[in-house]
Amino acid sequence: MSGAPLDWLAGQGKALTGEITVPGDKSVSHRAVMLAAIAEGESSVEGFLEGEDTRATAAIFGQLGVRIEAPSPSRRRIHGVGLHGLRAAAGPLDCGNAGTGMRLLAGLLAGQAFDSELVGDASLSRRPMGRVIEPLRRMGARIEAREGGLPPLRILANNGLQAIDYELPVASAQVKSAVLLAGLYARGETVVREPHPTRDYTERMLSAFGWPVRFSPGLARLEGGHRLRATDVQVPADFSSAAFFLVAASLVPGSDLLLRRVGMNPRRTGLLAALRLMGADISESGAGEQGGEPVADLRVRHARLRGIAVPEALVPDMIDEFPALFVAAALAEGETRVSGAAELRVKESDRIAVMASALRALGADISETPDGAHIRGGRLAGGQADSHGDHRIAMSLAIAAQLASGEVRIGDCANVATSFPGFVELARSAGFGLRAAPPIL
Ligand code: S3P
Repeated sequence: MSGAPLDWLAGQGKALTGEITVPGDKSVSHRAVMLAAIAEGESSVEGFLEGEDTRATAAIFGQLGVRIEAPSPSRRRIHGVGLHGLRAAAGPLDCGNAGTGMRLLAGLLAGQAFDSELVGDASLSRRPMGRVIEPLRRMGARIEAREGGLPPLRILANNGLQAIDYELPVASAQVKSAVLLAGLYARGETVVREPHPTRDYTERMLSAFGWPVRFSPGLARLEGGHRLRATDVQVPADFSSAAFFLVAASLVPGSDLLLRRVGMNPRRTGLLAALRLMGADISESGAGEQGGEPVADLRVRHARLRGIAVPEALVPDMIDEFPALFVAAALAEGETRVSGAAELRVKESDRIAVMASALRALGADISETPDGAHIRGGRLAGGQADSHGDHRIAMSLAIAAQLASGEVRIGDCANVATSFPGFVELARSAGFGLRAAPPIL
């Protein structure tokens, strides 16, 4: 999906200073488009993430017959067609790099009276979909996948799902959301129980669109047969995008950086707790609410970080932040231990293996375990490290390079556009030494 191959050249820049605002939240942007599309009436979305993942989701609803206008960047006006107003698409629906897009859409499309096919890029085509297929089949959905539950997914026409009471085998907001979205079309009450609470944006947003949902950490219930009413959604800045700057400014001496209006949903801010345990100096101010989500300004100043054993209870609340945490650990004093994080192996890449080999290439002392890593902090050198097309790994390695003794060439960075368009420019404006470069073929 992302354009031409792209490398980055990154190296020591300046202390990170000033004020920045990172783009809108990816999870919220996906859900806003999905629910607005099947609501009755016209919804507007402000702060929409103009990333490839979320644009792919919007384009899919265009194929399904929903009119979506983009009056200006980061805004969408969505003319909802109602719960039963989607139409069959003429061709496959391309989710690009987005696991969230594909898994949530599988749930939403499972209850439609027409067939659909969901496809994705090379990375998404390797990611496990059995975790959504299994509960959706139990609800009566007919879904075909490649061997091993891999995409593409063919979702066959259905004329009535049945609610289930489902206990998630893994803590996954994507699986929970797929089941809840199918539950909109099911007879009876759908119940989802989680081993650890995960992000609750689907539940919150369903409520904002007027669907009765009962939820508390680890549990969500809803009944089929209601309606969604159009509403206006304000998307907060993405904590996961802010995370790169929290780590970078903690590490680079002399930094003092303000991140404006960051989404602070407690199911997302585990990294903040982990960094504070490591000794980071991050303060919050101006706490408020944006579109029903807590937001705050975060001021981060350089501090000496110490290694920690990351509490396993924090893992689901920082699941997307481990590549950045690994960098913090590689430059902290002492050892950091990560465990209980096997899910990292089935993200956009195997984030344990890819981070271990990339950091090792820069001289770090890191060993993998099946569900985490042991990282002994020290110094990093320049060199070459590959992101394997994983957006969060590319950005994390750009942080590592700010502290490395020489320049780092980071390979395969084009996918950063999936979640953080404009990262290079924003990072440079804050002080990063970073530029795009054509890859060496
Ligand atoms: C997401 C949930 C998480 C996260 C992903 C976005 C979501 O995945 O890693 O980036 O929007 O629901 P899992 O719920 O599968 O862990």
